[in-house]
Amino acid sequence: MNEITISTTLQVYDSINELPEEVQQLMNSAIEARNNAYAPYSKFNVGAALSLDNNEVVIGSNQENASYPSGLCAERTAVYYAGAKYPNAKILKMAITASSQKQDTNTPIPPCGACRQSIAEYEIKQSLPIEIYFMGAAGKVIKSDSLANLLPLLFDNSVL
Ligand code: THU
Repeated sequence: MNEITISTTLQVYDSINELPEEVQQLMNSAIEARNNAYAPYSKFNVGAALSLDNNEVVIGSNQENASYPSGLCAERTAVYYAGAKYPNAKILKMAITASSQKQDTNTPIPPCGACRQSIAEYEIKQSLPIEIYFMGAAGKVIKSDSLANLLPLLFDNSVL
């Protein structure tokens, strides 16, 4: 029996103000998207913003449904929107922010597993890492240099 060790290095910024100007703007777009989330059931608003290599910014927010599983997360709303509108563009950066209508969320809120799998599809398709920044409503921002860093041993199309 052998063991393997998987490690990930992430960067932690103290606040949005510490981010490069361009990323602050992207996070502000994510905050705007978050404020327009449709989350009447969970009261948990999530916003995502993508910067593309064609200089466009695409946003998404979570969209809930009375039939709960029919809703969709902010990150997938954004990447599917980008894939539909700009099928040949590469995603360079993704900013994610979440806030609860019930309590403070001042710690970074990472994307859920299903969203990581969906983002991975685009990172593999474009052969270019996607920088991912995520935060709560305030406080620290975590940066990952790629989606792959957040999803070790991912399932991909190489086995299909
Ligand atoms: N949600 C997201 O939008 N992104 C995530 O990565 C995790 C969860 C949404 C789904 C649902 O509308 C609400 O947050 C509570 O789970």
